[in-house]
Amino acid sequence: KDGVYKFYFDGEWRKSSSGKTVPIINPTTRETHFRVARSCTQEEVKKIVETSKAVQKSWAKTPLWKRAELLHKAAAILKEHKAPIAECLVKEIAKPAKDAVTEVVRSGDLVSYCAEEGVRILGEGQFLVSDSFPGNERTKYCLTSKVTFTISAFPTGCVRESHLPIPPFNYPVNLAVSKIAPALIAGNSLVLKPPTQGAVAALHMVHCFHLAGFPKGLISCVTGKGSEIGDFLTMHPGINCISFTGGDTGIAISKKAGMVPLQMELGGKDGCIILEDADLDLAAANIVKGGFSYSGQRCTAVKVVLVMESVANTLVEKVQAKVAKLSVGRPEDDCDITPVVTESSANFIEGLVMDAKEKGATCCQEYKREGNLIWPLLLDNVRPDMRIAWEEPFGPVLPVIRINSVEEGINHCNASNFGLQGCVFTRDINKAILISDAMETGTVQINSAPARGPDHFPFQGLKDSGIGSQGITNSINMMTKTKSTVINLP
Ligand code: G3H
Repeated sequence: KDGVYKFYFDGEWRKSSSGKTVPIINPTTRETHFRVARSCTQEEVKKIVETSKAVQKSWAKTPLWKRAELLHKAAAILKEHKAPIAECLVKEIAKPAKDAVTEVVRSGDLVSYCAEEGVRILGEGQFLVSDSFPGNERTKYCLTSKVTFTISAFPTGCVRESHLPIPPFNYPVNLAVSKIAPALIAGNSLVLKPPTQGAVAALHMVHCFHLAGFPKGLISCVTGKGSEIGDFLTMHPGINCISFTGGDTGIAISKKAGMVPLQMELGGKDGCIILEDADLDLAAANIVKGGFSYSGQRCTAVKVVLVMESVANTLVEKVQAKVAKLSVGRPEDDCDITPVVTESSANFIEGLVMDAKEKGATCCQEYKREGNLIWPLLLDNVRPDMRIAWEEPFGPVLPVIRINSVEEGINHCNASNFGLQGCVFTRDINKAILISDAMETGTVQINSAPARGPDHFPFQGLKDSGIGSQGITNSINMMTKTKSTVINLP
C-alpha cells in the first residue's frame, strides 16, 4: 500500500525496520518507478541466517522426489506469472518486451530441468573396494553419497565500481533461479540478495516459490544496498556457500569469503575471431546478434571482433547493413536497442567511444545518444592503445580490430584479464579446434556467438571472469558435499 516492495523472510513479506527505501529508476523515463525496502540491519541478517540454518536441517531430510515436486510446482507458477514479471523487467532494466517474457519462461524451464537432473544425480553414489589401491587387501568397502548441510548466499547485486560498471542487472530472474533451483533440489536453504535494478522482478519470482509452498524460512530475499549488507552476508560464519554474479565485487568477495565453496560469474571481453575462409554472412548475423542483443548488456556479448584484414572490408559492410536495420527505442515497443540501465553506464560507454574516436577509430555510424539511449555503433580500425580494445562497454558499441594473422587474434584475447567465452568463424574444423585449444576462455563457440545457454551446458570463466563452473549439473554438484562411509571388514 505504501508503494514500497517488502523483503521476504520466514515465509512473510516484511518492512525494513529502518523504514528506509531504495529507489529503482526506470532507465527509459529516468524516473523512480519502484521502491524496495532498504533491508536489512545486520541484526536482521543474523536472524535470517539463523532461521535459514534451522530450516535447512529438515529440508535436507525431505525426500528428494518431494523437493523435486515443489520445484516443478514453482516452475509452473513462474510461467503462469510471466506477464507481470516481464513487465517489471521492462520497467526496471529496459529489457525488450519479448526478451523479458523469454527470460521468465527460460527460468521456469531451468527450474524444472534442475528438479529432474537433481533426482537423477543426487540419487546416485559410488561403491569402491580397497584392494584396487596398492598394498591393500579387500577389507574396506567405501560408499559415497551426496549430502548437504549448507546455507547458500546468492548475492546477485553488486556495488558499482568506478571503472567497470557492470551490475548484474541483466537477468534478475534467470540468474537468480540458476542459483536457487540447484540449491533447493540439493537440500540447501538460501538467502538471495538481488540486484537493485531488477529487484522487483526478483521479488515476484520469489513470490512464485512462496506460492509453491516451500517451508517457511527456507528461502529469504533481502533487498537494499550491497555496500551495506553484502560483506556482512557473505562473510557470515553461517553461510557455507556463495554463488555470485556481477563485476569486480566478486573478486573482493572471493578474498574475504574464507573456507566456503565459491561460484563466481564476473564479466567478459568475448572475442570473435573471423578467419579468411569464414561464412561472412553467418559471421555478420552472429556478430550483430551477439554484440547488440539486449543492447550489448550481456557478459557473453561479443565485445571485440578480430577479423583478418583480407576479409575485413566485406565483413564490416555486412555488419553495418544489419546494424542499420536494428530498431532503436522503448523496451515496451520491443525495440532491439533500448536505453542502457543507468545514466552512469551510458556515460561510461560514451567515454569509451570518445577515447576510441580521439585515437583514430572509425565510427561506422554517427554516434548518437538521448538520455540512457545510445544508438548502435560499430567502431572499425580499433587499435590496442584504445580503452575499448580491452574494457567492456556493456552497451551497444562494438569494436573491430583488423588482424594480419590468427595468432594476433588469439594473443589479443589471451592478453585480456577476462576469459569468459570466445568464438571463431571458419569452415575449417581442424583450425577451429586448434584455436579453441589456444584460447584461454571457459568456452569457445565455433561458428556461433558466445552464449551461456542452453542452461544445462557448463558455463565458466577463466581468470577474472570467474571461479568454478555453472550450468545445472555443475551447480547442483557444487552445492552438495561428498560423504563417504567406509565399512571395515574383519
Ligand atoms: O550476462 C551474463 C549472462 O550469464 C549471459 O547469459 O548468454 O544467456 O545472455 P546469456
